[in-house]
Amino acid sequence: MQNKMSIQGSWASRWIFILAATGSAVGLGNIWKFPYITGENGGGAFVLVYLVCILFVGIPIMMTEVFIGRRARRNPIGALESLSEESNTSTAWKGIGLIGMLAGVFIFSFYSVVAGWVLQYIQTMATGGLNGATSEQAGAYFNGLLADPQTLLIWHSIFTAMVIVVVAAGVNKGLERATRIMMPALFVLLLVLLGYAMSTDGFAAGWNFMFEFDFSKLSWDAVLVALGHSFFTLSLGMGTIMAYGAYMPKKASVGGTVLAIGALDTIVALIAGLAIFPIIFSNGMDPAAGPGLMFISLPVAFGQMAFGQFFGLLFFILIGIAAWTSAISLMEPTVAFLVEKFGMKRLNATVLLGIVCWAMGITCVGSFNFMSDYTLFGKNAFDFLDFITANIMMPLGGILIALFAGWAVKEQFAKEEIGVSDIAFSAWKISIRFVAPIAVTIVFVYNLL
Ligand code: TRP
Repeated sequence: MQNKMSIQGSWASRWIFILAATGSAVGLGNIWKFPYITGENGGGAFVLVYLVCILFVGIPIMMTEVFIGRRARRNPIGALESLSEESNTSTAWKGIGLIGMLAGVFIFSFYSVVAGWVLQYIQTMATGGLNGATSEQAGAYFNGLLADPQTLLIWHSIFTAMVIVVVAAGVNKGLERATRIMMPALFVLLLVLLGYAMSTDGFAAGWNFMFEFDFSKLSWDAVLVALGHSFFTLSLGMGTIMAYGAYMPKKASVGGTVLAIGALDTIVALIAGLAIFPIIFSNGMDPAAGPGLMFISLPVAFGQMAFGQFFGLLFFILIGIAAWTSAISLMEPTVAFLVEKFGMKRLNATVLLGIVCWAMGITCVGSFNFMSDYTLFGKNAFDFLDFITANIMMPLGGILIALFAGWAVKEQFAKEEIGVSDIAFSAWKISIRFVAPIAVTIVFVYNLL
């Protein structure tokens, strides 16, 4: 076993790696998307299917990404190349890293715009702008924001700058420092909000909605949504986790570490649901309100409750932090690549990538207003970028990573790195060779049709 280190640095401990990867995983996907898709797909049974997908597909693929990154100690493209060479197989596998880098830019460009909405809502909550608002007023407020390119652009630019500042500072002084400060804050805020939700009348209704398994409400469609989301929420399929794995300490076991990350991500999603649904139910609102659940229903609910403005503010700060630590991880693989491949200074690489992401993001700002008429396959830029990343690029990346690790990489390398018992290793192998590629292919093909 080699004892290499990445030129970018290394996480101070296994625990920091767990928190940094959890910071990437926990984002808008957990707090905005998971509750609303649970709402749209009927609750408990959907949650159960989602948990199964995380365990049998998400976790094995995450172990794979971590071990590839850690063994090679390089950016995703470099790591795939070096593992191919070590395994005497085609280096064309490094193309997976290329798809991933492109996906990172695409995801960043719309993610940053949504994060911008969150920043606007932090301001709104702080000033009490939606206190006592009706659903119509809150809806009009949200639509007014989308129709205002100038405000959207300002927040998009601020958010992009926030991410550049952290990424440019490097793995230890930037990513790790941000992790140490923001992750504890995130957990504390989440627990405070859970406590608040528990004090509302709707807590029992919220709990039952999430944990009563009524399989008559489960559709085939919901199963596919659950599998797709398990990918997005764990940041899989585009090299982010590979890049973070390259900085992981040698001694830690990949298997146990990844289980911890998967568990934390899942717990945060479940707590987010348990914090949001009671508030929705205590105010007699619809859990199936869709993407507007967080930006329209929730402010209305907070606007009518005791201390609602204060807790609403905390809530949007929580989402802002979650989005920030995720967006950082979207840039890291490409920055590492630019530094390692072309010898660029980290600062220059980050600013260059930041400008590209920012410029791409302008198309997403415009999607709701001045560019709404420009469509590709019937979708505006925002929807198009969301669609091709979540439904095409990430699943494709995931299938290819699983096939690469399951069939092309020398089994001995996986065994050395993952470091789990023989039974667990066999389970990983079955999942990575068969279960994950087949399951993801089904979703992939279904999504395209
Ligand atoms: N996992 C994040 C979320 O749930 C989003 C995210 C961050 C992501 N980095 C990623 C998704 C890399 C896919 C790939 O919001």
